[in-house]
Amino acid sequence: MKITRALLLSISILLLFFSGINQNLFSDWSGYNGGDNRNHFSDQKQINRENINSLKIAWTYASGGADTDRNNTQMQCNPIIINGVLYGVSAGSQAFALDAKTGKEIWKTNLKDETFNMTSRGISYWSDGRQSRIFFGFGAYLYALDAKTGVPVSTFGKQGKIYLVDGLKRPGADEYLALNTPVSIYKNTLIVGSRVAESATALLGDIRAFDALSGKLIWTFHTIPHPGEYGYETWEKENYKNLGGANNWMGMAVDAERGIIFAPTGSAAFDFYGGNRKGDNLFANCLIALNAETGKRIWHFQTVHHDIWDRDIPAPPNLFTIKKDGKAIDVVSVLSKQGFVFVFERESGKPVFPIQERTYPASLIPGEQASHTQPIPLLPEPFTHQSFTENDISYLAENKEEIRDTLRNSYTGQPFIPLGFKRTIFYPGTDGGAQWGGAAVDENAVMYIPAKQNPVYSSLRPVINNPGVSTGKSLYTQNCQTCHGENAEGNEDGTIPGLQKVSKRIKPERFYQILNKGRGRMPSFTSLSETEKSAILKYLNGENQVVKGASMQSVSEYVGTGYNRWYDSKGYPVSNPPWGTLTAINMNSGKHLWQVPLGEYPELTARGIPPTGTDNYGGPAVTSGDLIFIAATKDELFRAFDRNTGEMLWQVKLPAAGYASPSVYAVDGKQYVVIACGGGKLKTKSGDQYVAFALP
Ligand code: HEC
Repeated sequence: MKITRALLLSISILLLFFSGINQNLFSDWSGYNGGDNRNHFSDQKQINRENINSLKIAWTYASGGADTDRNNTQMQCNPIIINGVLYGVSAGSQAFALDAKTGKEIWKTNLKDETFNMTSRGISYWSDGRQSRIFFGFGAYLYALDAKTGVPVSTFGKQGKIYLVDGLKRPGADEYLALNTPVSIYKNTLIVGSRVAESATALLGDIRAFDALSGKLIWTFHTIPHPGEYGYETWEKENYKNLGGANNWMGMAVDAERGIIFAPTGSAAFDFYGGNRKGDNLFANCLIALNAETGKRIWHFQTVHHDIWDRDIPAPPNLFTIKKDGKAIDVVSVLSKQGFVFVFERESGKPVFPIQERTYPASLIPGEQASHTQPIPLLPEPFTHQSFTENDISYLAENKEEIRDTLRNSYTGQPFIPLGFKRTIFYPGTDGGAQWGGAAVDENAVMYIPAKQNPVYSSLRPVINNPGVSTGKSLYTQNCQTCHGENAEGNEDGTIPGLQKVSKRIKPERFYQILNKGRGRMPSFTSLSETEKSAILKYLNGENQVVKGASMQSVSEYVGTGYNRWYDSKGYPVSNPPWGTLTAINMNSGKHLWQVPLGEYPELTARGIPPTGTDNYGGPAVTSGDLIFIAATKDELFRAFDRNTGEMLWQVKLPAAGYASPSVYAVDGKQYVVIACGGGKLKTKSGDQYVAFALP
């Protein structure tokens, strides 16, 4: 007994010693957002506030595939680094491996499947000690690649891949699905969510587990419960068959020690009208704790009841430990698009800070039943405003009067206003608040959250439902208007193109191809008949044709008029700056430590206006060197902030905007920070480069 103890002790001392050495020479970024806890944290401190200004480009890698003519490719990938090898995804959506010290390519895939939106936020690494694999979402396919060669592992699924649409189909649904956030891994189990359409034709949003070796399905969790399952009574009877969405597109966190998967979900489709799904709608907009082995629900918390605002939980959860009343508590938290952080004890799901159910207005739309109450956390302190009033009109706007008049004629001034026929204001906008980049958490339980504050407006329109007969216009209204706008004008920041007289720009074959396969954020429309598609094309070119015997039945009685960012006459958000922020919150107390603007408009700064912050996509990385690295802004800069004060210490121009999260790692004793520069959103140019920085 005594001997074994002594032996164990000396072994653990040796292990500690070696892991100490190892840590100095090599430091991994082991998974999406830094690893299973998704905290974007590295304990590296070689780069710190004293030497940050000597940081230089260590290498760049041109990943290939950027469409710089149309500026419509992006890279949102948070690369991972395992033992000196960096794995990422190119602008052309191919997976690759690099020597993380030099940026030299080891392999790159050349996959050619016909599939949907392939913008990827990263890949996952798995090893059982004998073999190692890369799991990679290529549109609707989940691939298993040999980590050494990038060649698909033929014994996984069908010739190395699984078609994720299989098993999620339902009558009337389109086949649009994209695995854009990397899978989570527990032992030999891959836990898989997906992005599906946000329209009434969305696929099911079930969360599934597959075997990492064979690709066989292990379990399925129904996010819209079936008869007899918990939560079934929070929907209308047939909803599990006739609705989709409530999907996990934003990623999950894994508590490997406890065997718990924490999976957030988005709203049920369609986004803005729920008259056909009366009830709270569990497990849409929930944080769900699942047993990783069985897929059984342990607990859940719904952050928005009966969501009719597209208020999906926008980012993966964070797992960390806080101190409260002298006790250490392991917690899980999720961010909201409205600027809230919800914090729970990991095993019981008990809220760490009080959460209050507050009353909000009823819907004015016939058939809609908005929830009477919504949960509001009293702590942590919110990181954005929650409502837009006349006092919030931008001091910089030159057309203040006009904005005020429009505002007086809109529904505004509350966080949860059901959409009406009039303009209804979302503030923060439908993309947040927080967005998919998520939050970083450091070893002191301080959370760092990038966010944005840009008003968005939308409204509802009734669908003219004339059984058996539709027109090009009515088909457009039902299927396309919610994104491309009431008059096919597109949206104001150029992320959704206008479609008026579309044949002047693209050939009919291309038009049909885009409708059949989708593109970027646009879903596919496989459920429309050829006649219907041709009627829409004619309508866009100015001819409104009647289609008899139309197969398409309207599944919703109302459609939205789009996700329209509201800009002033000069193209800036109509709200008072800051339009983008970085906030530090002490998660032990829930109190803010600091908040600073994130990003700037060079032309405003030149006029002597203090930094306004900008719209942003992507997350931060925090290090024990007291630094926060973040790109994300539309000004195409990469910055470092002092994590203790929020002071901006360093900034550098990137070859294209870094709408992604940086990764921090070390190879052979040298620390690097790397960011994907894909641009292609918010009217900024596309690019294909990964840029790594290190001290000279
Ligand atoms: C969920 C939002 C959404 C819906 C619904 C939607 N689109 Fe799109 N659409 C987009 C986005 C975003 C793009 C830009 C995609 C890209 O290039 O990355 C786009 C691009 C297009 C393009 C290419 C235009 C060009 O100039 O290259 C066509 C054509 C198009 N959409 C037609 C339609 C039609 C027709 C419908 C209805 C049947 C429709 N879309 C429904 C979001 C949507």
